[in-house]
Amino acid sequence: MPITYQHDVLIIGGGAAGLSLALRIADQCSVAIITKGPSMDGSTYYAQGGMSAVLGGEDSFQSHIEDTLNVGGSLSNAETIKYAVEHGPENIRWMQELGVPFSSEIFKSGQRELHLTREGGHTHRRVVHAADATGKAISDTLENHARHHDNISFYESHIAVDLITTEKLGDEDIPNTCIGAYVLNNKSDRVETFQARFVVLATGGASKVYLYTSNPDGSTGDGIAMAWRAGCSVGNMEFNQFHPTCLYHPEAKSFLISEAVRGEGGKLLLPDGKRFMHKFDKRGELAPRDIVARAIDHEMKRLGVPCLYLDISHRSPAFIASHFPTIHERCLQFGIDITKEPIPVVPAAHYTCGGVNTDLNGLTDIENLYAIGETAHTGLHGSNRMASNSLLECLVFAQSAAKDISSRASKPHRHQKISGWDESRVTDSDEEVVISHNWDELRRFMWDYVGIVRTNKRLERAMHRVSLLQQEIAEYYSHFRISSDLIELRNLTLVAELIIRSAMSRKESRGLHFSLDYPVADESSVAKDTVLIPQHRPVTKKIKIIK
Ligand code: FAD
Ligand code: SIN
Repeated sequence: MPITYQHDVLIIGGGAAGLSLALRIADQCSVAIITKGPSMDGSTYYAQGGMSAVLGGEDSFQSHIEDTLNVGGSLSNAETIKYAVEHGPENIRWMQELGVPFSSEIFKSGQRELHLTREGGHTHRRVVHAADATGKAISDTLENHARHHDNISFYESHIAVDLITTEKLGDEDIPNTCIGAYVLNNKSDRVETFQARFVVLATGGASKVYLYTSNPDGSTGDGIAMAWRAGCSVGNMEFNQFHPTCLYHPEAKSFLISEAVRGEGGKLLLPDGKRFMHKFDKRGELAPRDIVARAIDHEMKRLGVPCLYLDISHRSPAFIASHFPTIHERCLQFGIDITKEPIPVVPAAHYTCGGVNTDLNGLTDIENLYAIGETAHTGLHGSNRMASNSLLECLVFAQSAAKDISSRASKPHRHQKISGWDESRVTDSDEEVVISHNWDELRRFMWDYVGIVRTNKRLERAMHRVSLLQQEIAEYYSHFRISSDLIELRNLTLVAELIIRSAMSRKESRGLHFSLDYPVADESSVAKDTVLIPQHRPVTKKIKIIK
């Protein structure tokens, strides 16, 4: 018998975006949260630096807006930025009320206030944090509340395969509407049907498409791929952010060294101990990430060295231990005492700035389908995300999506009958090696050809390879029973295609997209988003795509 679950709201993803939306809507609606693994499998859990928000002092909304616009390289949407920035403080207060243990300090006035750190691109201290484990603090607190809410059900080890839409069911009487998802239960190996009035993609980013990444294994762009297959447009997929400083150590799986280390005075050094960032940007170590990552990449290639160094050892051991306990401890495990010596660092893929196009409520091109968090392209980040604006985006757009869902939840709707997943024509795989081989190949050529520095030739090579992989995967998918590895590989390969196509269509260098063939920004006309629309079907509903 096919298994079917019914909920008002199906949230695919249990990171900052998914959990906060669930908590904001659960008093009105029954909510299902599905996650691939346990709660700590998304990027949220690993967030270090913090969340940006204007909290007084000499800071202002205007300043946060201007900094975000400047870092975004003329592609961020002013309306989106204003909306996100102005809703930042109330989201910090909401999390404080829920008990997130943000770091605080006692001021001269005797008042205890939140400690604000600094990161690249920010002209003021405005990053709220919980030492260097902000994501864990947010995740643990939100999850704890969600687990105790009667109206929220968790389905772990469940991986969404594809969205179910009225169009796929052949219903042409209404605009294409999302009504659920097929989901592989990894424990039973069966595909189950989740039916819901509203579906929310909160699946995080796609940085796993690159060989070296700061992200956890699940960042495979599933939401972007599912939305695309269902008919949603995507925006600005060429803008992949590479974090300048991940720990370089053969046994460390790209552990992040927070930008806050540079915010608190950390210096970037060449192997001979000399600083170099001032040669690239007058803001030095606190220039935006695209500039710092490119500068490190340039110096590593110029010198033929495998890493550069980040040094915070001039700060006191007590300061380091209290501000960066996680980084301190992790580096010690690898024999590096950051209170005494510099940290070997390299850039790694970190953040997907593009994603599923949404409006300010998180609504996509398809009725009742929302995308929030790193999966979405709201227009906040433009061609480069400013540090700590991602958690801000997760929280703010979860809040607006919850409001929108809540205003529509009581309206009458038509219940659709959904048939179960059809497995009648597939058998068990006889050659799993195809999957592991293709995973490796994809991530390697994306790193080599579609990385920090691109050329037309490299992009063409990558496109050729991605098409071959897609043919092989499509054949495999149609013959064999699906597994989580296959689902992720299929999604990642599609996302790779979207990244390459977007990169090929941008005939300039801007923000995170740098091409040796077009090394400067095209200032002859207004900067434009790269919007890709699925060709297999027209987008049925006109939405306001935020420019
Ligand atoms: P995630 O937290 O990535 O969660 C995705 C969820 O979706 C997971 O639960 C996963 O299981 C689920 N999922 C995915 N696909 C499927 C599927 N097919 N089926 C079922 N479930 C699925 N940003 C900041 O603003 N400040 C920081 O300090 C900061 N530090 C960072 C440090 C690191 C190491 C990393 C990797 C990122 C950092 N970022 C930071 C970025 C930020 O953490 C992420 O952009 C943000 O947390 C994404 O949240 P999310 O809710 O969109 O997705
Ligand atoms: C970091 O702590 O450096 C990550 C911050 C971010 O990605 O916003």
